[in-house]
Amino acid sequence: MTANILVAIAWPYANAEIHVGNITGSHLPGDIVARYHRLKGNRVLMVSGTDSHGTPVTLRADKERKPVEEVYKRFHAGFLELFQGMGITYDLFTTTHTENHFYISQNIFLALKDNGFLYPAIRPQWFSLKDERFLPDRYVEGTCYICGAEGARSDQCDSCGNVLEPEKLINPHAKTGGALELRDTEHFFLDLSKLEPEVIRFLRQRQDHMRDTVLGESLRKIEGEGLKPRPITRDLDWGIPVPVEGWDGKCLYVWFEAVIGYLSAAIEWAQVSGAPQAWQDWWTNPEARAFYFIGKDNIFFHTALWPAELMGAGERFIERITGERGKRLTLPYDVPANQFMNLEKKKISGSNNWAVWGLDVLQRYDPDALRYYLTVNMPESKDTDWDWGEFVARNNNELVANWGNLANRVLSFCYKHWEGRVPDVSPANLRPKDKELLATIEAGFESVGKALEAVRLRAALNEAMRLATEVNKYLDAAAPWFEIKEDKAEAAKSVYTALRAIDSLKVLFAPFLPHTSEALNRFFGYERPLFGEQYVEEIKDNLGMHTALRYRPPDDEPRWRPSHLQPGAALQKPRPLFKKLDPVIAEEERARLGRAE
Ligand code: MF3
Ligand code: ZN
Repeated sequence: MTANILVAIAWPYANAEIHVGNITGSHLPGDIVARYHRLKGNRVLMVSGTDSHGTPVTLRADKERKPVEEVYKRFHAGFLELFQGMGITYDLFTTTHTENHFYISQNIFLALKDNGFLYPAIRPQWFSLKDERFLPDRYVEGTCYICGAEGARSDQCDSCGNVLEPEKLINPHAKTGGALELRDTEHFFLDLSKLEPEVIRFLRQRQDHMRDTVLGESLRKIEGEGLKPRPITRDLDWGIPVPVEGWDGKCLYVWFEAVIGYLSAAIEWAQVSGAPQAWQDWWTNPEARAFYFIGKDNIFFHTALWPAELMGAGERFIERITGERGKRLTLPYDVPANQFMNLEKKKISGSNNWAVWGLDVLQRYDPDALRYYLTVNMPESKDTDWDWGEFVARNNNELVANWGNLANRVLSFCYKHWEGRVPDVSPANLRPKDKELLATIEAGFESVGKALEAVRLRAALNEAMRLATEVNKYLDAAAPWFEIKEDKAEAAKSVYTALRAIDSLKVLFAPFLPHTSEALNRFFGYERPLFGEQYVEEIKDNLGMHTALRYRPPDDEPRWRPSHLQPGAALQKPRPLFKKLDPVIAEEERARLGRAE
């Protein structure tokens, strides 16, 4: 039976380019899982988009003295280019600045309001006399009244990690300059305390498969401090208007609406795909499984805030937009949040240019080489470090030596000595050692698959690599390059066996190394590709036009199965899959770090 899998990936803010830490944190693990399930024949919907609202984006626009719209569109365009280059196959990568997202977010808000989870209340907020407006929390900094650290934002202190009450900040000053004054302002609050028991129950039900780092942290926090009401509107003009009369000039809080993007993007995808109700296959189907790929700084929003919104709005929201009753919205099945990747032992920092930028590094290295290192080094359970020396070493000693050379050596040897065809060996005539190797490799569909299902991606890739080592050992022992001199029929058996093993390994490696597996698939002479195509689409609505990344799947025949390579089949002339890297590049790359752009 095919399963419906929602792959939901954190929406990047449109205020900075994407670096390797972001890629390994969420986009790449999401893509690996999506590709695996597609190969299995499951129905995958992989969505995300640009987080275009919020103060990170408006601050950036202020700094550049450019319209916010222009700034968000520039970063958005860069994201689309990067994901195409890295092969991050979103079914839809859109933006939060669409008419559809506004409509869906406003309806989640209204459904929560209908259900009694929202209430208005007055609170003090810093007002800039110079700008004549309330300043968003990130625009006001001062000394933390809890730990005494300088540079605390009015809503949060990054030094002690506490959420702050803006009015208590010591020595507050505006980032944009000018005098400040506390003034009262009215906002809607989401009464999370009412939803707390349901959030706790939801999390406990996931104890058997959610990572301890994610579940433990979430439950400890909620059970310790409790869920408190949070204001979900702000005095802003860039964002989604509060859909209530008399609330002009106020917008939905960026975190409240950005998470709704997972739902609105599915709805937009269904519309542009010409099947407007298809989003329900993931969103109202109790059998569907939703995986959320995020960084550890976003855990609370995905294990508490978003589930609370879904439970609080659920049935009422669906009734509002479709008229149907009694349906619920799918809750997260797993939130495999990653830790952070550092760079050469220091925290990645965009402002100091201590970063390896995705689009930049793609100009010098192949996407699968990058994907390989970003997967074996993925911060699944603890922070990891991008080290240029290690990047070169693992590329050369593992990817090239163990897998790339194996595929290239056997295919080239066969191409040369069997007139470009798979040796015509009847599988029934294989020797015990041949059958044993094939059985070992075929078991990989189970073992690699199991690790992928559980989102243990490093383990899954290590297992595929271990199987490649088995083929290398087999070849060292069988040595067809010597066998051929004495008995070509025996050599044919070895070559046929190794080819079949490589043909299977191609699939096992495909979620991680899709570009090279696709190339290998062509060398084997197959016409059906492993994966579909990415393309950019322009979508028009009443807010204007936005570009989106799309994915066109191939036919729906499952590909996650052992090789059935036909004896005698025609091959294509093979080429090396990977490049060996010169160790001097590690020093060259290190010299780039921290330099002004
Ligand atoms: N834009 C946020 C960040 O970069 C992440 C938003 S994730 C979503 O940290 F859930 F809100 F979409
Ligand atoms: Zn503090």
